[in-house]
Amino acid sequence: MDIVILAAGLGTRMKSKIPKLLHKIFDVPIIDYVIETAKTLNPSNLFVVINPQLQELKEHLSNYDINFVFQKEPKGTGNAVLSALSFLRSEDILILNGDTPLLKVETICKFIDLYKKNTIDMAILSFKPKREHSYGRILRDEKGNVQKIVEVTDLSENQKNISEANSGVYLLNRQLAEFVRVIEENPIKKEYYFTDLVEIAVKKGKKVEAYTIAEEEELIGINTRAELSLATKYLRDRIVREWMDKGVTIYDSATTWISPKVQIGEDTVIYPNVFIEGETIIGKNCILYQGVRLRNCLIEDSVEIKDHTVVENAQIKSGSKIGPFAHLRPDTVIGKNCRVGNFVEIKKSFLNDGTKAAHLSYIGDAEIGKNVNIGAGTITCNYDGTKKHKTVIEDNVFVGSDSQLVAPVKINKDAYIAAGSTITKEVPEGCLAISRVPQRHIEGWSKKKRKA
Ligand code: UD1
Ligand code: CA
Repeated sequence: MDIVILAAGLGTRMKSKIPKLLHKIFDVPIIDYVIETAKTLNPSNLFVVINPQLQELKEHLSNYDINFVFQKEPKGTGNAVLSALSFLRSEDILILNGDTPLLKVETICKFIDLYKKNTIDMAILSFKPKREHSYGRILRDEKGNVQKIVEVTDLSENQKNISEANSGVYLLNRQLAEFVRVIEENPIKKEYYFTDLVEIAVKKGKKVEAYTIAEEEELIGINTRAELSLATKYLRDRIVREWMDKGVTIYDSATTWISPKVQIGEDTVIYPNVFIEGETIIGKNCILYQGVRLRNCLIEDSVEIKDHTVVENAQIKSGSKIGPFAHLRPDTVIGKNCRVGNFVEIKKSFLNDGTKAAHLSYIGDAEIGKNVNIGAGTITCNYDGTKKHKTVIEDNVFVGSDSQLVAPVKINKDAYIAAGSTITKEVPEGCLAISRVPQRHIEGWSKKKRKA
């Protein structure tokens, strides 16, 4: 079987400078979903019909091992298939719309089985949308035989009530595909509709069937921003459902957003308004409280992430507690049983096991040992205006509150930093470093000031 994905439309209804098929559902472009599904089917050849003017889409697709076909001008889906026709060699051809990303491989397999079992010339994957829509309608005769597909532009008043719609997924034999050459231009839209092939085929006595084997939750075609939003919700519901089936507790499926490539371990609990993005992996028995956003993170087992914490490209090892209101930035590794508390920002740093930074700190470009206590308000001064410098803190160091560690600087193991110190020199092992101005008392000062 050859597969043709139609992706050369302009997508004007999106009202966007970005090509429609590069709009994303979660973090993945619409077209990628379709290509991935097509590849899973292992076709003899996979062709994607694109518009040579849509440079961005062309560039994006050049990352994939696929064959391009150029449709010079977007003159409709019939013309798009015609552009690919001379390349098609297999006996059967599966055609997919590039804007129908939620289609499941299982459904296509069922569809292929029906086509083969019933030895027909063309199969249409149809469905019954429950909302007002602009899909083409499947017109059947009194006996239920498919007659043609009527596009929304050409619907008569009573055809508007037809409940069966065309999903834009077709399977047909190579000989029948030849007839795309005779499709005529639609007088209203001035486009060549691939769907007109159905009537042509029926009139030639070919066997055409439409199979209603899936719902709109899977077959939605994205033409508008409203449909993009709807498709995102459908996929969200599907993914959330899958994770619940695999043993994850999700408080509110309507506000939990999990990207397709995320993995989550059993008995992890997710509160409302959580976003888990990219290729994040979460272990077992974790708790993600509300408002957490994780992107491309590796979270080990039994980690607790409290409300409104953001973690990007970072790793948190087992048993650690993070947040509320913490910000872990890229290249951060938090060891086992650590504690990172409220209003702590950590960037490109490693905190070894058992270390705590519980309140109001900035830690950047630091390497911190085991069982270190970072007091409230500690700042690593890592940037001198031109370059970033490293702070090294060895095991069992105690950094008192409101200290500044001016990098590059090293604090050797078991040292203490007195609260309020500005550390600019290496602190030897086991020392107390104190750099604050001694306190003075000026007798009677307040009384004098009040009189003045
Ligand atoms: C199409 C079908 C409609 C069906 C719906 C399902 C036609 C005429 N109509 O309508 O019956 O219910 O899909 O979602 O086919 N494309 C090209 N070249 C073009 C025009 C479009 O490659 O010149 C591509 C688009 O990029 C898109 C796909 O074909 O991926 C469908 O085109 P679109 O304009 O979205 O068709 P619909 O109006 O949704
Ligand atoms: Ca469409």
